Amino acid sequence: MRTSGIIFLFVAVLFVFLRGCTSPEGQEERGSAVFSHGVVVSAHPAASRAGVEVLRVGGNAVDAAVATGFALAVCYPRAGNIGGGGFMVLRLADGTAMTLDFREKAPLKAHERMFQDEQGKVIPRASLDGSLAAGVPGSVDGLLTAHNRYGHLTLEKVMAPAIRLAEKGFPITRKQADALNRYRDDFLKANKGIPVPFVKEEPWRQGDTLAQPELAATLKAIRDYGREGFYGGWVAEALIRQMEKGEGWITREDLRQYRAVWRKPVRGEFKEYSIISMPPPSSGGVALIQLLHMVEPYPLSEWGWNTPMSVNLMVEAEKRVYADRAKYLGDPDFVKVPVEELISREYCLRRMRVFRPGKMIPSDSIAAGDPYPYESEETTHYSIVDGEGNAVSVTTTLNRSYGNKVVVEGAGFLLNNEMDDFSIKPGYPNSFGLVGGKANAIAPGKRMLSSMTPTIVEKEGKLFMVVGSPGGSTIITSVFQTILNVTEHGMGMQEAVNAGRFHHQWRPDMIFYEQKAFSPSDTVELVRMGYRLKKRTSIGRVDAIRVSSGRSLEGGADPRGDDMVAGY
Ligand code: GLY
Repeated sequence: MRTSGIIFLFVAVLFVFLRGCTSPEGQEERGSAVFSHGVVVSAHPAASRAGVEVLRVGGNAVDAAVATGFALAVCYPRAGNIGGGGFMVLRLADGTAMTLDFREKAPLKAHERMFQDEQGKVIPRASLDGSLAAGVPGSVDGLLTAHNRYGHLTLEKVMAPAIRLAEKGFPITRKQADALNRYRDDFLKANKGIPVPFVKEEPWRQGDTLAQPELAATLKAIRDYGREGFYGGWVAEALIRQMEKGEGWITREDLRQYRAVWRKPVRGEFKEYSIISMPPPSSGGVALIQLLHMVEPYPLSEWGWNTPMSVNLMVEAEKRVYADRAKYLGDPDFVKVPVEELISREYCLRRMRVFRPGKMIPSDSIAAGDPYPYESEETTHYSIVDGEGNAVSVTTTLNRSYGNKVVVEGAGFLLNNEMDDFSIKPGYPNSFGLVGGKANAIAPGKRMLSSMTPTIVEKEGKLFMVVGSPGGSTIITSVFQTILNVTEHGMGMQEAVNAGRFHHQWRPDMIFYEQKAFSPSDTVELVRMGYRLKKRTSIGRVDAIRVSSGRSLEGGADPRGDDMVAGY
């Protein structure tokens, strides 16, 4: 009796374990799951399913990325978007890699002091609220440009799931209901009493249906007329009317001129891994490679995960990298960014020369380095690998949650408040506390600096990981830690995503951390070293895929959100 009970228990545990680790055809998982034909990991179950739906009918990773991107604009409106911008990093099965920059741009009327008053004082929240806070949207041109070059399926097929979700609606999650209730007053204020789909009489509850018929009509215009369906025609007219009403500066000419740009990826080596990531106007790829180079000589795996020794090293590297970011990074179409110098291993090691294990160096004694002598909250990420081994890593954003919360009347989409990512005055912190200067000053048609870090990692020349995160300034450090969790600390993909995170960005001189990142005794030890610590409920939201030998695709969906792995 006792023996059979133990056997039963063992079989039950084994069943639960295997169910969590492997997935038969078409299964989907909130947490980790392993597939062999294709995987999509995104911030919303309906968007992950949209990507897999397209993979199953013969679409490749780019088709799936376009389907997931448009679906997120519908079912994850706090960050998924057509009114914002983002970045895509692609690696084809043959190893060719490239990136697509569809970051928003400052309107042509914009100028360096547009968010300052006559005395040069920053006008509070002017770069965050209202139509003036919006950059010229890039997402639609970006997704269509990627689809034109690499998609296999018709636009009609890849946009079908998003249009269906917008027309018929979808059940919202508990987290979404809470957020919509929390932002109710902001939506009312931003839209001056015009009805928007995100506000209803009664409070939202989990499982309520959110339908967006106006957004469905806009998506159909894009499906039928391509970029002209958004940057021209009635949708553009609706956007211009919104600008006129809200005293925004985006014009028909801004929309006509907007084009996504293919850029060469930024690349770096870390041990046996090759990092392929986003170059400027994101700071993400440069910063990630700098961080990896700075920690590379130290025995992190021996020191252990998030031990005071490891945290000390990583934080001291982070301070230096964010100081460099503030000085050197900006839109490469406007300023010379010394990318190769900043990511050179020699420069990164020189920046760490004064580092001594166990010693805290205050941010005030750290300034940006000098690479020249050697010659010169809210965002969302999704990762996709298809059956042929093509990989796509996309991070996209409206900047803060629901952007500026203005819904374009008649066209149903939210506008971004990305202008706040510029340095609106030298040294003045943006909403993520990041400071900047000349390199990231506002100029007409310029792209604002970003921290988005969509990344693909190769191991010994083969596809190994697709990774990225939302989280403003914490994006870079979330991606950094996730990569180290796998490469240095031997974690599986889901474990690496789940693990507690911490973050330092030079200014303020503070380690932000999640409760589960440090044990109580490690916290005491870090304080003893001289660090100031501040707890945050959550840092980053990583959605990633690890490709193991034999081509098994292990998804890791961040449990901090409603994120989901889907595949087959
Ligand atoms: N809006 C956040 C970022 O691009 O870094």
